[in-house]
Amino acid sequence: MTYVIRDAVPADLPAIREIYNDAVLNTLAIWNEQTVDLDNRQQWFDARQAQGYPILVIVDHADVALGYASFGDWRPFEGFRHTVEHSVYVHPEQRGKRLGPQLLAALIERAKVCNKHVMVAAIESGNAASIHVHKRLGFVTSGHMPQVGIKFGNWLDLTFMQLMLKPGALPPQERP
Ligand SMILES: CC(C)(COP(=O)(O)OP(=O)(O)OC[C@H]1O[C@@H](n2cnc3c(N)ncnc32)[C@H](O)[C@@H]1OP(=O)(O)O)[C@@H](O)C(=O)NCCC(=O)NCCS
Repeated sequence: MTYVIRDAVPADLPAIREIYNDAVLNTLAIWNEQTVDLDNRQQWFDARQAQGYPILVIVDHADVALGYASFGDWRPFEGFRHTVEHSVYVHPEQRGKRLGPQLLAALIERAKVCNKHVMVAAIESGNAASIHVHKRLGFVTSGHMPQVGIKFGNWLDLTFMQLMLKPGALPPQERP
């Protein structure tokens, strides 16, 4: 099977919503228990577009999105403007085919194009697949926060991993 990674368009939002809502209902990857409607995903899409940040989808021969990845600002203060936090999700029936790592590798390249310096992943500490994929792509663990979340009646630990996109780069002297 040949897969293609491309920028998402509004027609991908129903598939993205399905993948997102599955993660809400059936995983500890998203710490929400409320599913979202299409309007919610459209607003998210518009916000990413307005910021010039990518949403990438990986599609099959029928151009159906099987997974997606995106990043947003890590924290809403101007001093964090060179750091982004990303997410990557693969449809439950498509996991185990290395689509996630392909998406993440492509997203890393886009973060470099956006002149970002650091990518941050905030991962539920029991998510061995995600931690493995991030390590494979060069991320290192930079923090572990016990019991900062709750879902399905359990406390959740958060593992932070980060990737320096341009190691050794001097801080840009631009003003925000
Ligand atoms: C995490 C996720 C993106 C990974 O994408 P994927 O396409 O399913 O990735 P794969 O299962 O093909 O795994 C890629 C690698 O992880 C390894 N892996 C898979 N499951 C694993 C597990 N439970 N423990 C350790 N390694 C695991 C695979 O062996 C493979 O390693 P390799 O390339 O070194 O052989 C995907 O499973 C997913 O969408 N999960 C639900 C949402 C989620 O957790 N998103 C991440 C939030 S931080």
